[in-house]
Amino acid sequence: MIAQFNVPATIITGAGASRELGTQLARLGARRILLVTDAFMVSSGVVDRFVRLLDEAKIEFALFAGVQPDPTDANVGAGLKEYVSHRCDAIVALGGGSPIDAAKAIAVLVNNPEPLSLYQGYHKVPRAGAPLVVIPTTAGTGSEVTKVAVITDTTRDVKMMMLDRHFLPTVALVDFELTLSMPQALTAHVGVDTLTHGIEAYVSSKATPLTDPLALTCIRLVAEHLETAWREPANRAAREGMMLAATLGGLAFANSSVALVHGMSRPIGAMFHVPHGLSNAVLLPTVTRFSLAGAPERYATVAKTMKLCPIDADTEAATEALVRGLVELNSQLQVPALGGCRGVERAKFDAVVEKMAADALASGSPQNNPRVPNSGEIISLYQAAW
Ligand SMILES: [Fe+2]
Repeated sequence: MIAQFNVPATIITGAGASRELGTQLARLGARRILLVTDAFMVSSGVVDRFVRLLDEAKIEFALFAGVQPDPTDANVGAGLKEYVSHRCDAIVALGGGSPIDAAKAIAVLVNNPEPLSLYQGYHKVPRAGAPLVVIPTTAGTGSEVTKVAVITDTTRDVKMMMLDRHFLPTVALVDFELTLSMPQALTAHVGVDTLTHGIEAYVSSKATPLTDPLALTCIRLVAEHLETAWREPANRAAREGMMLAATLGGLAFANSSVALVHGMSRPIGAMFHVPHGLSNAVLLPTVTRFSLAGAPERYATVAKTMKLCPIDADTEAATEALVRGLVELNSQLQVPALGGCRGVERAKFDAVVEKMAADALASGSPQNNPRVPNSGEIISLYQAAW
């Protein structure tokens, strides 16, 4: 199989990596940047720290803090307007997956025609976008190193998955110190999302020899560090481990693929505004149980990498241990079931579950799953996760 592998041109990791911002922008020749972030980054004072760095580096900026969770085409359009009216020449994204994905879409639209929905799907962007430096503040989505952006199309109520190498950031500044203040629930949700990236990249029918080691290291780091990072938010070793896991998971799934968990998770986000990490976390054990039969050896390797069973366990024992381990992890981290997520109501769920299954299949992700479901099976899985 021929496989393509794309990564940002520069990835800088380690404590204090985000303080490289001025140097990196100067290297790229940026003079006036659009800083894309959200209201929380402003109110928590994180933006101020970067404003000082930009001032020191004598780089002008326009602030666009209008990105909402589950960013929309309207957010992207508003950001693009700011970019054009301030005549910016580069973009910096600061925050979790939402500001980063919105910034990727703004960067692409700088040099490509609207509407954004033209680029839904795979490899549809004709030209490179504006230079983009990303600074993740959560250890989870991996968006800082992926060629994927997910933006909600508000006219169709669909989370558009767009994959193209032109969505890749130019520079990723991966600084675990920015995650030390992440709240406990967010740590849990994006942490299980990271694990999902590692597992799905590894069991995907699109897994490659280059992505397998990244996916397995991601999985091992999550097993070693997630519960500690959740219990002891200021534990630097655990935060660093989770940040590396998130970035490795991003590199893995962006060059292999995600699969059924992500395919089913996006419609939950689009319908009920459940955050991305949580909607993946609630599905992971149920979907893994369903998928085992498609790649039992690979799932057994996942269980062994997570040290959920002895290294010499047979495949069946290992896969059983994996499902049990994932259920236990969610309960340890107080991840609710689907029906327990805020905003998810049974009556609406019953009314839209068929559309959710159709949207999941239309996204293309379930087709990469080791066991490919039909729409009836997806509906059953949603109900099992309830
Ligand atoms: Fe994800």
